[in-house]
Amino acid sequence: MASLTIRKLDDAIKAELRMRAARNGRSVEDEVRVILREAATPAAPTVTTASNASRNAAIPRWHNLRHNSNGLLRITLIIGGGIAAYKALDLIRRLKERGFIVRCVMTNAAQQFVTPLSAGALSDERCYTDLFDQGSEFDAGHIRLARDCDLIVVAPATADLMAKMAHGHADDLASAILLAADKPILLAPAMNPLMWNNPATRRNVAQLARDSVAMVGPEAGEMAEAGEAGVGRMAEPVTIATAAERILRPPQAQPLKGRRVLITAGPTLEPIDPVRYIANRSSGKQGFAIAAAAQAAGAEVALISGPVDLDDPAGVTVEHVESAREMLAAVEAALPTDIAIFSAAVADWRVAHEGAQKLKKTAAGIPPLQLTENPDILATISNLRDKRPPLVIGFAAETEHLIENAKAKFARKGCDWIVANDVSPGTGVMGGDRNTVHLLTRGEGGEIKTESFAVMTKEEVAAMLIERIVSTMTDSSK
Ligand SMILES: Cc1cc2nc3c(=O)[nH]c(=O)nc-3n(C[C@H](O)[C@H](O)[C@H](O)COP(=O)(O)O)c2cc1C
Repeated sequence: MASLTIRKLDDAIKAELRMRAARNGRSVEDEVRVILREAATPAAPTVTTASNASRNAAIPRWHNLRHNSNGLLRITLIIGGGIAAYKALDLIRRLKERGFIVRCVMTNAAQQFVTPLSAGALSDERCYTDLFDQGSEFDAGHIRLARDCDLIVVAPATADLMAKMAHGHADDLASAILLAADKPILLAPAMNPLMWNNPATRRNVAQLARDSVAMVGPEAGEMAEAGEAGVGRMAEPVTIATAAERILRPPQAQPLKGRRVLITAGPTLEPIDPVRYIANRSSGKQGFAIAAAAQAAGAEVALISGPVDLDDPAGVTVEHVESAREMLAAVEAALPTDIAIFSAAVADWRVAHEGAQKLKKTAAGIPPLQLTENPDILATISNLRDKRPPLVIGFAAETEHLIENAKAKFARKGCDWIVANDVSPGTGVMGGDRNTVHLLTRGEGGEIKTESFAVMTKEEVAAMLIERIVSTMTDSSK
């Protein structure tokens, strides 16, 4: 993939970009991303392309969002120079799991413990380290980094960083960002108990509380230093991520609170014999993103997943299964729910006669693999009499005639909505981070309505879907 250095563009173009970015309240970097995304999005010939209005509709209202280029909330994570810096790497993943965009900044001392490379790789963004950074594509880096986010998290917050904050120092990138910030700040202090209890730190903590800086932890427990214990351990990454989420998505704004949501994700594995199986290329990323978004919207989420290489989303009950039959059994056991979303790529067929032992090469030649039909989970649940969830959503992954095939599936299955996506090899959807989806619903007269969306990250697709679910449930309860 080619990279683009804004600094090397013509001055006139740079000036135009700055104007556009300022008009739209974005960073220059984000403005370029938006322009490239718009230019790269093919117009769908048979269906309407998402207008700006419907893109904005994809942004969850309850998240109190700033309108970043992609509608997601941004966190600037400042990593201080403490022994707990290694936990900040896990924190990046925990924040991303919750659908936040994370941009990392490291102090010089932090780089003694973990590398900017690790933080950059985990956050998918460059990690910023220098106040005087000639390579930065930001015009005034510390101001932009302070402003171009929704929350600043400092983890670990060292005694030194807190002292600098309390006294308004700005002699490195981290402290300059903190001084220039107009966004909420959440500190996760971590230090030796003697440092935490030192009167100077106590004064600084009290000053920061007066300055409305939020804090999570520190906790009591054993220190990294052998034989030392007391208050000073950094809160666990999950706890910090939850505290960040509480600031960005206040609990009262959880429109799916009290609702149960069932989601399937990933592939199924259909055994041939004890060591071989038939599988597909589904990564489970889309289903996991939907589970995280539903959980963030306050729902009680049961996620039933085929074998995937993903961490379980925080706060979600996950059941891991292998075959389509196991998935159906787990789905049935999870009912009743208010909403069921079937995003798993369930194998249509399995081997009719699974070998009890490993099939061997013999003189008789190649063993025939006779296939038999698997249970149709979407159709089964859509046609339940008693326990049918009020809203059943299926996914149609197609490699040709996308809308035509999705409409046929919609008519066949008896579900309420279908999310159709093109998974042909050139799209990179299977296993990738982006998706281009079409939402099929029914109009008042029962006719199928198709709404097409521009390419989005799988988290954005998840946010759009949850937003639609929320508005439908709100409308139907009026
Ligand atoms: C091995 C080691 C571990 C340290 N752990 C901590 C710590 O957990 N908390 C802390 O406040 N300082 C700790 N320090 C001291 C900080 O690294 C030092 O105060 C540094 O100047 C902090 O820089 P920063 O605040 O710019 O990141 C540690 C130092 C060393 C050598």
